[in-house]
Amino acid sequence: MDAKTNIALELIDLEPELEDFRQAVVEGLSSSPQKTLPCKFFYDATGSALFDEICDLDEYYPTRTEINILRDCVSELGTLIGDNRLLVEYGSGSSVKIRILLDQLPLAAYMPIDISREHLQQSAQRIAEDYPELAVLPVCADYSQLTDLPVYQKNPGLRKVGFFPGSSIGNFTPEEAQHFLQNVARQLQPGDGFIVGVDLKKDPEILHAAYNDAKGVTAAFNLNLLSRINQELDAEIDPTAFNHEAAYNDSHGRVEMHLVSKTDQQIRLGDDQFELATDESIHTENSHKYDVDEFQQLADAAGLKPVKVWTDENHWFSIHYLER
Ligand code: AVJ
Repeated sequence: MDAKTNIALELIDLEPELEDFRQAVVEGLSSSPQKTLPCKFFYDATGSALFDEICDLDEYYPTRTEINILRDCVSELGTLIGDNRLLVEYGSGSSVKIRILLDQLPLAAYMPIDISREHLQQSAQRIAEDYPELAVLPVCADYSQLTDLPVYQKNPGLRKVGFFPGSSIGNFTPEEAQHFLQNVARQLQPGDGFIVGVDLKKDPEILHAAYNDAKGVTAAFNLNLLSRINQELDAEIDPTAFNHEAAYNDSHGRVEMHLVSKTDQQIRLGDDQFELATDESIHTENSHKYDVDEFQQLADAAGLKPVKVWTDENHWFSIHYLER
């Protein structure tokens, strides 16, 4: 056995309320005129694996582009942030991205926050093994609901820097994004930093390709939500009776994903029945895109001052460094 696996990590468990999946599905399918399903339920084991596959697709530029920008700006980030910080990651996601920061910034501690206890524990454990000098403080919580961060008892005054990559902020509406950033601002002290990855507005054809890939992985990811409902709830839905649809909605500045019914059909969920007409859709995800100024104004209004922004040569993706 590898000696490194003995590091005992203490999880700070804020016991996030797991929103009842069934209740959310019933509510979404009852919603009129537009049926909806919340995108946070995409990520069961199959959905998470499909999302990893999406990140490697030729058409899906965000992951690759953000990693390249991060590699290019990390030393400058280091200068802006300073030494001996607590890095707070909102959602414990891609290990590639976090490791770019952990490898190159002289951090004292790392606090990943994630709602999935098991995923959090596993990824935090691996980080603790690979960075023995770093204090790793996993927090099980729903970051979208979190108002205050747990205090790091060993060093309560440690200055913080937040990290929210992947344009996950795009799943929020601008109003929700502002609310989230306000919560972040109150979790930081004046002068503390926040690093956020934001997908930019661009030629709708590039966006269209990114969410309608040739291999159909994004379609499978979207349709998997119906399979998950069948598996976890007492439901009878035929995923083959739906088409994946993703299109840029210019007036809202966002890519919307929908599941579109191919026929007039009834779907059963427990004792409830839901009617879908031919071409009627279930709205499953919003992915908001911003201009650099637009996002900076949003952040500023939430109490986070734009300090520096980096983009790629195509101006497809941005990484913002904001300061409370
Ligand atoms: C994880 C929310 C950033 O919006 O691009 C990818 C999710 N959906 N393909 C995105 C997603 C369809 C992704 N985010």
